[in-house]
Amino acid sequence: MNPIKKIYCRTFQTGLKLALPFLPYRKPKILGSLKNIPETIRKHKCSRVLIITDEGILSLGLIRRLENRLAAEGIPYFIYSKTVANPTTSNVAEALELYHTNHCDALIGFGGGSSIDCAKAVGARVVKPKQSLAKMKGILKVHKRLPLLIAIPTTAGTGSETTLASVITDSVTRYKYAINDFPLIPRYAVLDPKVTLSLPPFLTATTGMDALTHAVEAYIGNSTTYATRKEALLAVKLIFENLESVYHDGSDLDKRRNMLHASFYAGCAFTKSYVGYVHAIAHSLGGEYNVPHGLANAVILPYILEAYGSSVHKKLYLLAVEAGIVSPETPCDQAASEFIRTIRAMNAHFGIGNSIPEIRKEDIPKLAHYADKEANPLYPVPVLMDAKELAKFYDMLLEEHHGSRRN
Ligand SMILES: NC(=O)c1ccc[n+]([C@@H]2O[C@H](COP(=O)([O-])OP(=O)(O)OC[C@H]3O[C@@H](n4cnc5c(N)ncnc54)[C@H](O)[C@@H]3O)[C@@H](O)[C@H]2O)c1
Ligand SMILES: [Fe+2]
Repeated sequence: MNPIKKIYCRTFQTGLKLALPFLPYRKPKILGSLKNIPETIRKHKCSRVLIITDEGILSLGLIRRLENRLAAEGIPYFIYSKTVANPTTSNVAEALELYHTNHCDALIGFGGGSSIDCAKAVGARVVKPKQSLAKMKGILKVHKRLPLLIAIPTTAGTGSETTLASVITDSVTRYKYAINDFPLIPRYAVLDPKVTLSLPPFLTATTGMDALTHAVEAYIGNSTTYATRKEALLAVKLIFENLESVYHDGSDLDKRRNMLHASFYAGCAFTKSYVGYVHAIAHSLGGEYNVPHGLANAVILPYILEAYGSSVHKKLYLLAVEAGIVSPETPCDQAASEFIRTIRAMNAHFGIGNSIPEIRKEDIPKLAHYADKEANPLYPVPVLMDAKELAKFYDMLLEEHHGSRRN
């Protein structure tokens, strides 16, 4: 990256960091179970609810418990279940129409990050009917209080239940972008591990690696605070303690709960301290080819950590110690290599592999441009890179360079 752009990026990031204590961050109130939802809806004087979910969750019957609770309390509810992975502007438009036609006044995002992000974007459109989602891209473009929004994550996960982001893909251009503003932080998050029991092993692994990527990118960035460092470390510890075993046996409720909490803490860390180039590249691949978000992050993470070199060794050493991978006596550079090696080994073990076969060589300049646009100047990454430098990672991810393919 040229020196002028570097100065611009670092000045922008320092400005945001200095502003951090004065910004209206908040955390959602945590509900431990679905059964508190009717009472919460009544407390907010709401009467008609739109539940936003996806077909997979609907067909598994995961929302039935919620439906029964709402029906028992006489609260009318409507369901939008067409959310797709990497939710689109069309999903938001359809759900918004359902919200208005049924005179709803509250939203429940029930599912993975896709359903929760769709619900957040619907909320944004409810309060800003004249502004398109594309116009809300970036930071601080919503600035109006959303209708009551309750997030029920069924993956662990994106942390979307606590973040100020909603990531949406333009149905026409396939450009995937984030809308970031404080009103998008849900009022309530229901961390109920029962709704994650049905997650199959591969999705458990990829969504768990997404949470790990949040914690790592937030921790190694330049805009951490004492609190976000603590949250990121706790998330990493919980993920290393639990992910492997829930991958093999998804029925352990305590371990599923630990993963939900890990995802929540990682979300708390990155909503204030940002993600980095791993996410920027993953979003471009999710938009263009529908590559699942967690899968893309998992594959990209070791490449980017390697490229940051010695600038992140000390931090990766601290993460490796917290994860229980190395002892505190291990030299920094050795611990950092071990941390990266372990992520690669986890990817191999989970069948995630080390390439993204969907990438087409001719798309790389456009994708790298998208990643550059998303990350610079916003993300306080340890080493700045421009589109040309980011393009190299897409090349590395091309399948032709690798022996191993994902499942
Ligand atoms: N807003 C944020 O802060 C934030 C952070 C990270 C990622 N994201 C976004 O979130 C999206 C990814 O979300 P995700 O990884 O949670 O996946 P997802 O919501 O796209 O769901 C993936 C698949 O898992 C299935 N699924 C979900 N829960 C299940 C369960 N309990 N049992 C069985 N199947 C289940 C769904 O039906 C779907 O087929 C991406 O669009 C990503 O960009 C948002
Ligand atoms: Fe993510």
